Amino acid sequence: MSDSNLIDEVFEIKKFPDPILKQVSKPVEVFDENLEKFVNDLFTAMRVHDGVGLAAPQVGVLKKIAVVEYEEKSYVLINPKILEQKGIQESEEGCLSFPGIYANVKRPQWVKIETQNLKGEKEIIEGEEYTARAFLHEMDHLNGKLFIDYLSNIKKSAIKKKIAKNTGGHF
Ligand code: NI
Repeated sequence: MSDSNLIDEVFEIKKFPDPILKQVSKPVEVFDENLEKFVNDLFTAMRVHDGVGLAAPQVGVLKKIAVVEYEEKSYVLINPKILEQKGIQESEEGCLSFPGIYANVKRPQWVKIETQNLKGEKEIIEGEEYTARAFLHEMDHLNGKLFIDYLSNIKKSAIKKKIAKNTGGHF
């Protein structure tokens, strides 16, 4: 694969109902310069598409890697695990894989996560409110879970119909 192909691939965001979005990603085991390059490309793709977060499966890579950037703070999540969570919040949520679709989703108010950095070292990060929401949304992507999975069947099918209408797709 040439470098230009790699860049093209990174910039294409997989949209629902692409089946890759429902798959469970594999843990990262090799921490090398390719991982660092991929994480940088993920940040670039997220910024180009005006997102606050992006997960590897959304660019077609089934690895437990995601990035979040909110209020000028950047976070790299590699093999993240929830250690603790508290409280509850409900707010409107969107996803780069669902352009133009927003829905209210309940999430914990605060979360503590164990993640690994680009060197493979374990780190603990915490987030609350919108940051917690972003961490949990991206971590769901790594397990094949989407924000519409939190909605009632009626709301979910209304969203699917809207997407099918917009794309001319079939369900
Ligand atoms: Ni998303």
